[in-house]
Amino acid sequence: MNVNRQWRLARRPKGAVQETDFAWTEDPIPSVGEGQLLVRNLYLSLDPTQRGWMARDTYVPAMEVGDVVRSFGAGRVVESRHPGFAAGDLVEGGVGWQDYLLTDGGGLLPLSKLPPDSDIPLALGVLGLNGVTAYFGLLEVGRLKPGETVVVSGAAGATGSVAGQIAKIHGCRVVGIAGGPEKCAWLTSVAGLDAAIDYKGERVDRRLRALCPEGIDVFFDNVGGEILDAALASLARQGRVVLCGAISAYNEKVPPPGPRNYVSLIPRRGRMEGFIVLDYQERAGEAVAALSRWVREGKLKHQEDVQEGLENAPRTLLRLFEGRNLGKQLLKIADPRTDDPE
Ligand SMILES: NC(=O)c1ccc[n+]([C@@H]2O[C@H](COP(=O)([O-])OP(=O)(O)OC[C@H]3O[C@@H](n4cnc5c(N)ncnc54)[C@H](OP(=O)(O)O)[C@@H]3O)[C@@H](O)[C@H]2O)c1
Repeated sequence: MNVNRQWRLARRPKGAVQETDFAWTEDPIPSVGEGQLLVRNLYLSLDPTQRGWMARDTYVPAMEVGDVVRSFGAGRVVESRHPGFAAGDLVEGGVGWQDYLLTDGGGLLPLSKLPPDSDIPLALGVLGLNGVTAYFGLLEVGRLKPGETVVVSGAAGATGSVAGQIAKIHGCRVVGIAGGPEKCAWLTSVAGLDAAIDYKGERVDRRLRALCPEGIDVFFDNVGGEILDAALASLARQGRVVLCGAISAYNEKVPPPGPRNYVSLIPRRGRMEGFIVLDYQERAGEAVAALSRWVREGKLKHQEDVQEGLENAPRTLLRLFEGRNLGKQLLKIADPRTDDPE
């Protein structure tokens, strides 16, 4: 079958992302020119940042309406006329919501090679973008010190679950905030956090005051909004707020008002700082080496939520905003052993 199935951006989402924001198209598989390679995509990574890419310029320019949906993922090179890649190589990068990617290897989200024996779901999550984000966010931006009190929001997700466990590995007391009893139980019984707050069933401000009576030294925030506000009110002296993400606001038509409790930063001599993982690209190897070692030693637990079938890409993205993903959200679109579609 000489068909490249693709999802394209049909319109910019307004409010919550909807399946009707995307259009399904089928094109012939493109032929490979000099300096190009053709990749059979195997797994797509679903990331909240895709919502931003669809809507507006952020840290990268917005997608254009009609573009194949921009997405991280991994695949196998099926044909190469590029000196840096050979048929059979496993690669990761901006593969897009499609069966096949024709590329020169560069662009906004360039391709890089994965070791041939890679576990792809791990390479796209705990040992990939999410793990690297948690590592530098906590250790560099958060300037984590052993023995501190750390709170993580979105704590059961791909990035938050790694951040919380890195803090535990560094001898900190860690409280995770997540939605629902199942995720909270995973945080304390599997990930080994000291406590969990179910923001869907509990008052976060009260629970933070009770669980962190001396204040929060580092708040690693994936969520923003009211949860950020509650954490600011409980910040310790010289506390640091790491702004990793603000998923509670991504689907809002009008940006919500800023945090009321930012004023706490003044008497507590606190600091709030945002960052983008791409800033640390050159040092990613350092993070991946540490993360791989912790996974091997059983100190860093991870879970992957693998859905199947390219046709399910839009509804798999929606899972992130509904809190339905348990760990790293992936979509397997072809079998890595045979390259056959799922
Ligand atoms: N700065 C960077 O370079 C960088 C890099 C990667 C990711 N990020 C950010 O990190 C955050 C997590 O991304 P991820 O890829 O690891 O996704 P994830 O945490 O695995 O999945 C998203 C989770 O967000 C939670 N959520 C959704 N809507 C929410 C709401 N209204 N209020 C509170 N929680 C909500 C849900 O968990 P619950 O069930 O617990 O609600 C959902 O499972 C995002 O904000 C993302 O933009 C930043």
